[in-house]
Amino acid sequence: MTQSTRDGFTSTFGVLVATLGSAVGLGNIWKFPYLTGANGGAGFLLVYLLATLMVGLPLMMVETMLGRAARANAVTTFERVAPPSQSAWKVIGWMGFAAALLIMSFYSGVAGWVYAYIFKALSGEIATIDPKIAGAAFGKLVSNPVASLLWQWLVLGITGGIIMLGVSKGIEAVTRRLMPLLFVLLLILCVRSLTLPGAMEGLKFLFTPDFSKITSEVVLTALGLAFFKLSIGMGCMLTYGSYFRGDQNIPLTTTRVMLADLSVSLLAGIAIFPAVFAFGFAPAAGPSLVFMTIPAVFTSMPGGTLFMTLFFILTAVASVGAILSLLEVPVAILTERYKLTRKHAALYTIAAILLLGIPASLSNSLMADIKLFGMTAFDLFDFLSSNVLLPLGGILICLFVGWVYGLPEVEKQLGNHGELQNSPLVKAVFFLVRFVAPLSIAVVLLHGLKVF
Ligand code: PHE
Repeated sequence: MTQSTRDGFTSTFGVLVATLGSAVGLGNIWKFPYLTGANGGAGFLLVYLLATLMVGLPLMMVETMLGRAARANAVTTFERVAPPSQSAWKVIGWMGFAAALLIMSFYSGVAGWVYAYIFKALSGEIATIDPKIAGAAFGKLVSNPVASLLWQWLVLGITGGIIMLGVSKGIEAVTRRLMPLLFVLLLILCVRSLTLPGAMEGLKFLFTPDFSKITSEVVLTALGLAFFKLSIGMGCMLTYGSYFRGDQNIPLTTTRVMLADLSVSLLAGIAIFPAVFAFGFAPAAGPSLVFMTIPAVFTSMPGGTLFMTLFFILTAVASVGAILSLLEVPVAILTERYKLTRKHAALYTIAAILLLGIPASLSNSLMADIKLFGMTAFDLFDFLSSNVLLPLGGILICLFVGWVYGLPEVEKQLGNHGELQNSPLVKAVFFLVRFVAPLSIAVVLLHGLKVF
């Protein structure tokens, strides 16, 4: 495959939007609030922030950098950037391949819930501030095996179709337009939520840490979320980096994406937690938290139905950008390494996800009692990807960059025209990647998995 025939992002703005589209998704609206709620609030948020700044951002920079340096998919990248005798590094790409399928198997299911909620919002079924009614509406959807599967398949059909259209056309066009609207809608939600009676308690939960709640599992979950949020540790940013233009400023782009992504998560948290306490929802409700609380906030304001419908439409759109980036990891590997057409690669990928998605989707109904390590398929796939494969991939990428690739090459690749030679910024990133990140990920991983 020659470089000139490779599809890529066509403008600096397009790169920013697509990368942001990958980062911002159900992770912000659904996962961040539910994990924050289930893990004690502010303490979790604090660890998550630390993990994002000290580990996530530097890793995002070097991962993107490797992809652009090699201009290849996640597996081939390591054949190109590693010395010939060390081609084993490409296992990172294969782990990413597996992680992408695992994440997609439950992520597409949750996206399916979001699609279904567009119609529930329209019908008025979820226009309630009563936790019992809200819980019943959610339960009705997820405990129905046929409905949850069909919604998931609809998501896979739509996103599979988009990915067949190609990188620049498909991804840029879809993610560009609607994100600002979602941001505005979240702001409106925050205002309403903050003016609810008892809102302060929610803010306290979110911003006043209780350090006794920070266990090793909480730390591992926060680290896993940081990886999941920034789409790192699994070859997604390697793949997107390979579509970056040569003159794109990687440190700046990744920092902007991280900040924007963090803002969306925080807004979602501020929209949700005051309402959780005002209406008497359980902060630790788990995956259902957002699906119950957000409708309650909308219900308590004028124009609720309209805004609620719009919100779920925009969340569905946000999920598309993330899903496209997830699919791109296997699709790029299959097209570039096995010479499959884009169409076939997308079809095989979707078929694999469809199969893996069945146990994930049925985890709240027919397969609710089938557990491995005490987890349903849904929880297990999430745990295996976010808390095991992504951190492990992260360690390996850090070790590769820090100990094989080396500082001179990082200086050269991160700065496009040699402007980052001897830059203290790059030295700091390199130090984090060489020592701090791999060590801290390893300790958190081993501790969180109870190895010691
Ligand atoms: N970052 C996305 C989100 O928060 C999920 C994702 C994970 C996308 C890994 C790509 C790779 O929704």
